[in-house]
Amino acid sequence: MATIATTKGTVIIGSDHGGFDLKIQIVEHLKTIGYQVHDVGCHQPERCDYPDIAALAGKATLDSSNTLQRGIVVCGSGIGISIAANKVPGVRCALLHDHYGAVMCRKHNNANMIALGGRTTGVEIAKEIVDAFLSTEFEGGRHEGRVGKIMSIC
Ligand code: RB5
Repeated sequence: MATIATTKGTVIIGSDHGGFDLKIQIVEHLKTIGYQVHDVGCHQPERCDYPDIAALAGKATLDSSNTLQRGIVVCGSGIGISIAANKVPGVRCALLHDHYGAVMCRKHNNANMIALGGRTTGVEIAKEIVDAFLSTEFEGGRHEGRVGKIMSIC
């Protein structure tokens, strides 16, 4: 069993019913590798609306009291909840299906949230994605201005 001495910060997580089972497994993984987790819901696998969860998760991720500023959202496909999360000002949410995307969304896009599909992505791939998302730094440089242009679109 893993023993956690210190926390690496708090990861925000949320899902609708379509992403609930994968979310629970991701939460366990995050705790095992030393993160605290704030789950904005849903807290049972009953039907709910993914835009509500995306809004809660996006706002919690960007809350000034949250030093890590990383969020993970899960719905059935990952599509709806990623679209909705990106409506929260300041959120850059990448819909991911593989490790490469997880690395690139940090290096080039400075993503602060990721979206996964509970019906499309298996748990082991999801863990790889989460690990890369949380451990890869933004490269800055030429990407700084491009990300700035994204954020200036309204
Ligand atoms: C819920 O059935 C499903 O529509 C939702 O989880 C998500 O896949 C939407 O994009």
